[in-house]
Amino acid sequence: MYEFAIDTHDKAALYRDLLAAADALTAGEPDPVANMANVAALLWQYLPRLNWAGFYRARGGELVLGPFQGKPACIRIAYGSGVCGTAAAARRPLCIEDVHAFPGHIACDADSAAELVVPLLHGSRLVGVIDLDSPVRGRFDEEDIAGCVALAALIAGRVSEG
Ligand code: SME
Repeated sequence: MYEFAIDTHDKAALYRDLLAAADALTAGEPDPVANMANVAALLWQYLPRLNWAGFYRARGGELVLGPFQGKPACIRIAYGSGVCGTAAAARRPLCIEDVHAFPGHIACDADSAAELVVPLLHGSRLVGVIDLDSPVRGRFDEEDIAGCVALAALIAGRVSEG
């Protein structure tokens, strides 16, 4: 069992503690699936107001569903499709205040209203994306983007499937 002391009252502190926990969980583990699974669980447990948290992996020229928490989700996403495929193709974070206003948004859970997708880059190679969904419109802000970008930089090499 793992217990982490994560300060959930202040967003900066929350991401600082979340990164420390993700670092502790993944630093000594070479298995990418185990690392994605534990980080998905951490995001789900400690980030409030989410209805989906997890990974899509860059496999064979498309994104393929990875470890996650939330409802069953679409399995394969083409680069350029939806929020995940658009962020992956651009290799840039994509923060969507209202997914219903995003052309091509792929609805995996009808409750989703906001979405944050952050690419995982190991060197110049796209490893996959972190995907967070929320039922609250405008849920994600600059601090969430910065926190998830820092998390992606920390774990990209540890969730890379080679
Ligand atoms: N909404 C995403 C699809 C993945 S689910 O949110 C888990 C998209 O538009 O790419």
